[in-house]
Amino acid sequence: MIDYDLELQHHNGALRRAYGIRVSDRVLDIGCGAGQTTREAAQLATRGSVLGIDRSNEMIERARELASATKLGNIEYLCADLERHVLPREHFDVAISRFGTMFFEHPLAAFSNIRSALSPHGRLVMMVWQPRDRNEWATAIEGAFPPAPAGAVSSSTTPPAFSLGDRDVVRRILDAAGFAAPMFEEVHAPVFYGMDVDAAFEFVCGFSTVQDNVARLDSRQRAQAFDRLRRLLTEHQRTDGVWLDSRAWIVAARRG
Ligand SMILES: C[S@@+](CC[C@H](N)C(=O)[O-])C[C@H]1O[C@@H](n2cnc3c(N)ncnc32)[C@H](O)[C@@H]1O
Repeated sequence: MIDYDLELQHHNGALRRAYGIRVSDRVLDIGCGAGQTTREAAQLATRGSVLGIDRSNEMIERARELASATKLGNIEYLCADLERHVLPREHFDVAISRFGTMFFEHPLAAFSNIRSALSPHGRLVMMVWQPRDRNEWATAIEGAFPPAPAGAVSSSTTPPAFSLGDRDVVRRILDAAGFAAPMFEEVHAPVFYGMDVDAAFEFVCGFSTVQDNVARLDSRQRAQAFDRLRRLLTEHQRTDGVWLDSRAWIVAARRG
């Protein structure tokens, strides 16, 4: 399982500051994964509550396990698809997300669902990747593989991680979903892939994009690509681990 908490250790502080969660808030964590952000929100909303939702059962089980190791009694988790699951209306004060909103196949439906679950003064605070060409981790890792033949379709049905990278696209979707006054804050910080090249190699081999690329290569091409990938990670080895550059947005909007 990918450990986003380690990968995003330089991103998380900025996002936590942007949440603006108050002690009595009811918080929704969208695509909560293993739940670091859910637990942090629960530490802030001590007289409120936090609901973490993720469509991956594996992630929700891990999130429940990690939460049960804490004394936090104000967290609940639900395994559900936010594009289909009907949320309670006007229930939450803040909807937060760390890279959990970019994979919606129907973003307008999903954001409209989230918007109607927010109280009239509710807010959305989410972190999303900026466009792919501003993210070294994506361009450099993909550059280790030969280009896909023209017309080849990725086996992954997941829309790209960069679907909310363009601010105009985000503004249009949020506006249509009923959000107002979106603000964008840039977070320019490296992502951590492991203490050494072996750990980083194993980590990036868990990416669906890497797996898609590997699947279309023969054994000779695969060995060459793995050599290039290891060389790339070696070039990014520092004394404190392997780091690649990244750029994200924190998008904050209020319910319109
Ligand atoms: C990149 S991970 C981020 C996980 C977590 N927010 C974190 O930062 O550790 C994206 C998560 O969004 C979840 N996700 C994607 N689309 C979803 C949907 N339609 N409904 C619920 N969860 C979704 C995925 O299962 C995955 O766990």
